[in-house]
Amino acid sequence: MTHSSGMEPELLRLATAGSVDDGKSTLIGRLLHDSGGVYEDQLHSARMASPNGLDLAFLTDGLRAEREQGITIDVAYRYFATARRRFIIADTPGHEQYTRNMATGASTAQLVVILLDARKGVLPQTRRHAYIAWLMGIRRIVAVVNKMDLVGYEQRVFDEVRRDFADFARQLPGASLEAIPASALSGDNVVRRSTRMPWFGGSSLLECLETVPIDECGGMSEFRFPVQYVVRHGGDYRGYAGQIASGSVRPGDEVLVLPSQRTTRIRSIGLYEDSLARAFAPMSVTLCLEDHLDVGRGDMLSGPAHPPMAAARFLATLVWMAETPLALGRPYLVKHTTQRVCAEAVRLVSRLDIGTLQERECAELQLNQIGTVELETHRPLFCDPYRRNRTTGSFILIDPTSNQTLAAGMISSALEAPPRSRGNSAGQRGLTVWFTGLSSSGKTTLSQAVYERLWARGYKVETLDGDQVRRHLTKDLGFSKQDRDDNIRRIGFVAELLTRNGVIVLVSAISPYHAVRDEVRGRIGNFVEVYVNAPLAICEQRDGKGLYRKARAGELPGFTGIDDPYEPPASPEVECRTDRETPAESVDKILRYLETRWS
Ligand code: ADX
Repeated sequence: MTHSSGMEPELLRLATAGSVDDGKSTLIGRLLHDSGGVYEDQLHSARMASPNGLDLAFLTDGLRAEREQGITIDVAYRYFATARRRFIIADTPGHEQYTRNMATGASTAQLVVILLDARKGVLPQTRRHAYIAWLMGIRRIVAVVNKMDLVGYEQRVFDEVRRDFADFARQLPGASLEAIPASALSGDNVVRRSTRMPWFGGSSLLECLETVPIDECGGMSEFRFPVQYVVRHGGDYRGYAGQIASGSVRPGDEVLVLPSQRTTRIRSIGLYEDSLARAFAPMSVTLCLEDHLDVGRGDMLSGPAHPPMAAARFLATLVWMAETPLALGRPYLVKHTTQRVCAEAVRLVSRLDIGTLQERECAELQLNQIGTVELETHRPLFCDPYRRNRTTGSFILIDPTSNQTLAAGMISSALEAPPRSRGNSAGQRGLTVWFTGLSSSGKTTLSQAVYERLWARGYKVETLDGDQVRRHLTKDLGFSKQDRDDNIRRIGFVAELLTRNGVIVLVSAISPYHAVRDEVRGRIGNFVEVYVNAPLAICEQRDGKGLYRKARAGELPGFTGIDDPYEPPASPEVECRTDRETPAESVDKILRYLETRWS
């Protein structure tokens, strides 16, 4: 992203790639060293030149934010400047297994410098790096054919490598290739033109970097603001904090709020104590809106003209970065803008053959491979195709247990996700599975496990958990008989709506009174009662939240099982004795029952 204001030199973001011994550090060292003197001055004049004196700070803040999100693991950023331009280098290690860094480091770059060893020429990973850079949207490739000193500065060697690389690059639509023969070690063609290769008429690497046209990266400049959190303080104040993903805003601009589709205007833009007349990507700001709308974390504010897609099923290109291959149907997490959403791969469309650049059918996606995959997310993502927006079009795939980054992903298009499209859920009928039982009897544990199993099989499934629901839907209620009945009725109301819409709803609430349970059952119709049964003594012994102890101490009057009754269901569809069965046994029992119900 360039913000050319006043006299400030333009900024070029570049990525570097190469194999371990290609001499990348030497090359970068040279660039930094030979231009180092200028840097401090430049920094100073940039500050003077930008009206609010903050431009560079935002720049580095943006980068820091990326790093905090874990997106740029092991990618070092280096800054340098000449009189003509400022540069940020995403320095990515070169070994094959570092494809991940290449993929992540390249994502904001406008140009990639790929190093080759003159003696080795174009290697498979040279192609891989160039291809990944191209995938990431980088159209300018500068191939530095290094170690020319070791081949006697011979034109023939350079020409051959250049031809090979050009043959490959021709297959990347829109890519432009520049090749430079160099010796990082002796400084030939790095900063100054070499006298040892008079046959080369082109410019040195630095000259090339200083003069190459700067492409606006990210494509679209449409405003996108994923809401990271809501700031409330004092009376009426409500602000929405986050990082602008693309575009810019001014107070008074109309914005669309997603998913509610309501429009309103920006009232003010806050940055710390200041209020700004304009803010742009990648600044982190707090926005206040003209109208009081219900906006929460994970929602998005967008320019009204071209809103993002809301996609729960989409086609994406993955650069796979983990030792364990991609598995269909396994639970993954997608980290997209500020969101983490459950996801799974439902179809492996093809894998790229890096030798021929052909798409191949395949059964697996392994370390360093690039493939096209159909993904489904539990909630819709507000996203754009990557070619239109690098921020809202990209994501990383995470292993939910180890938190390890598995892949970098680029969204190509949204796919139709009709309500009943998940896996074998075609024609799925809605159902409410109601877990009732004492506190600490195991309701949440079982419903969560059932949730995961059903989700993995492709069902549309939701949970409504007493503890959770009491934080919003029934926040105003206490534990009197009447309040508990109201709690159950409200949960029942939501469960009914979902059930009617083909969702399997897993409710877990103590729901101690049978009359209201039966009332809800009658209203929902398709209802399965699971009695999560463990003797009071056992529940009390588990005492997951320490509430029994409090109740016994008289600090929690009216606690179910202690001084408030629990009325067991008379004929539950399933009963789980959690004091005698393992959780896995209970879960199997519930799933077996559901099967008979469906067949
Ligand atoms: S219900 O009775 O209305 O169905 P619900 O399942 O929503 O109860 O909420 C129960 C949770 O509220 C318990 O897990 C516990 O954490 C908390 N709680 C607080 N006070 C009580 C109480 N007096 N009796 C039962 N649970 C309580």
